[in-house]
Amino acid sequence: MGMESAELAMGGKAGAKAPRDWGRRLRQGVRSLLAPVLPLDVSPARALLNDAQFALFCRMRRAEQQHALRVHATVQEQAEETPLELARAALLHDIGKIRCPLSVLGKTWAVLLEDWRPRASNQWPSPERVAFWQRPQYVMSQHPAWGAELAEEAGLDERTCWLIAEHQTPLPRWHPHPDGTLLQRLQAADRQQ
Ligand SMILES: [Fe+2]
Ligand SMILES: [Fe+2]
Repeated sequence: MGMESAELAMGGKAGAKAPRDWGRRLRQGVRSLLAPVLPLDVSPARALLNDAQFALFCRMRRAEQQHALRVHATVQEQAEETPLELARAALLHDIGKIRCPLSVLGKTWAVLLEDWRPRASNQWPSPERVAFWQRPQYVMSQHPAWGAELAEEAGLDERTCWLIAEHQTPLPRWHPHPDGTLLQRLQAADRQQ
């Protein structure tokens, strides 16, 4: 897929909540369930990450590693050139989930709850005060910020950490960011995979 089509897919929705694609959600759920029997080739991660960052990658669940590798492959297909920061962010964009791993059921619950009662990431109380039934939604909302912290601790650069931190944030078209195109590529690949 060319980057133009990726941008078009993204551009029309920038700044607005994208509608849920239930077919894609179902496919993701089935892939998660099949993770133990689906192949896992971590060589792209081994090639692009240093020892500490690769150790971090390996702490993700098998299904998350497979997803991250698919997102990485997709960003590579979007354009002839992929900056190293984007490639690394693709591999580690969901690393924040290792702080509180969710089951397939938990992720499904988070998606349903987000549709029914969406919450901005700054609306949450302290972690101890989040009700148990809201925890999956809380994790899904906070994992970009947690991921950026973990990536920074593992020595990743500012641009990669920014991409990880913002990978769920719709960019307003009226306030372009210098790395907005890279973020759009990451978000388009993440939605696709
Ligand atoms: Fe994510
Ligand atoms: Fe993701």
